Amino acid sequence: MNILILGSGGREHALAWAVAQNPKCDRLIVAPGNAGMAEIAECASFDIDDGEAVVTFSEEEAIDFVIIGPEAPLAAGVADRLREAGILCFGPSAAAARLEASKAFTKEVCDAAHAPTAGYARFTELAPAQAYIREQGAPIVVKADGLAAGKGVIVAMDEATALAAVEDMFGGAFGAAGAEVVIEEFMEGEEASFFVLSDGKFALPIGTAQDHKRAYDGDKGPNTGGMGAYSPAPVLTDAIAQAALDQIVQPCIDEMARRGTPYQGVLYAGLMIKDGQARLVEYNVRFGDPECQVLMIRLGAQALDLMLACAEGRLSETQVNWADDCAVTIVMASQGYPGSYEKGSEIRGLAGLPEDSWNMAFHAGTKRIGGATVANGGRVLNVTTRGTTLRTAITRAYDMVSRIHWPEGFYRKDIGWRALERNDVDAAE
Ligand code: AMP
Ligand code: GLY
Repeated sequence: MNILILGSGGREHALAWAVAQNPKCDRLIVAPGNAGMAEIAECASFDIDDGEAVVTFSEEEAIDFVIIGPEAPLAAGVADRLREAGILCFGPSAAAARLEASKAFTKEVCDAAHAPTAGYARFTELAPAQAYIREQGAPIVVKADGLAAGKGVIVAMDEATALAAVEDMFGGAFGAAGAEVVIEEFMEGEEASFFVLSDGKFALPIGTAQDHKRAYDGDKGPNTGGMGAYSPAPVLTDAIAQAALDQIVQPCIDEMARRGTPYQGVLYAGLMIKDGQARLVEYNVRFGDPECQVLMIRLGAQALDLMLACAEGRLSETQVNWADDCAVTIVMASQGYPGSYEKGSEIRGLAGLPEDSWNMAFHAGTKRIGGATVANGGRVLNVTTRGTTLRTAITRAYDMVSRIHWPEGFYRKDIGWRALERNDVDAAE
């Protein structure tokens, strides 16, 4: 098969790495790709958010299967255009991608599906929103309805912060994304991510993960896209994951089908777990980045078979072959990230690193200049390893990180701490 992967991050390098190992893959093209992906695939350059451009390229290159990595092309309807053109593709339609693009829509689907989530109210005007906040009190969560680059959610620990947040949103701070505001009950608990593939009807779990959103050790500093992740997430026990599938994910997939907008692709459910019960925080309509990296190193080449079964509506007859393993990924970022940072610093030491089914340094924001690999983004490398225990995987990952010479970068030294502490407590019991 000729396969095209859209995207350029660590998530897409991990997808490309898994796909390239599968004998079904004859030719792999990535657009736009990065320096790491260029070593295992051909890189192409066109506007990946433009459905026409993606269809034209796919027809010219006789692409059999397109895998869409990021959210933007999904929200722009690239999957719709590909399906109209008869090209097999992995990723939801724009109508189904509203599960990420609109928080109010997700709430509506959860209500219809009776899926446990935070209590909420929706507002399109400031005064009633303020009155609601005063009536409910803090802590309370204020969310811009639309996509706001991860900045549209304010977890307000006091009423003044919540009131200021709605004022900002209706004042246009998030543009059209803030024209409607969802105000939610604050949920306590531990967050974890649950990933399933859906072919429109059937949901197949492909793993759990937890990430570290804050920039610095001890979960301090500003929020980022994620500084590291591990899989599985010990807090999401098999029983809780099964309940989340039966009570949250499958009923929402059924509801999407009932509405005539079936969900096809990976569905990433952010869950809040407390007292053995999961409630939905949010859906994403793509793989998490860097969560995808730990899922891919665990799944390996079968990831392509699973994504094909998903796109072809064959998930109910498909199984995941699980190894009893754990994976971790450490994000190396440019100093200054998530604020401003310099591009162009050289990264040394990559050539001597192991590259096998247990250890991979996936590239995110990198570029080749002459013979050198240089930083070309905020999150730059994702050192990803697998082990029979999480502790082995973590030790191996930090050993690899120590062999990379990049003084202009930084990384967290405590990825996986929560899971290790939990394992230690379990072991002592
Ligand atoms: P979202 O974009 O909806 O995932 O929100 C971003 C982050 O805000 C989540 O990952 C949670 O940490 C937090 N959050 C969102 N909604 C709630 C809620 N209802 N209660 C507590 N925390 C929340
Ligand atoms: N790492 C969080 C996300 O991809 O949304």
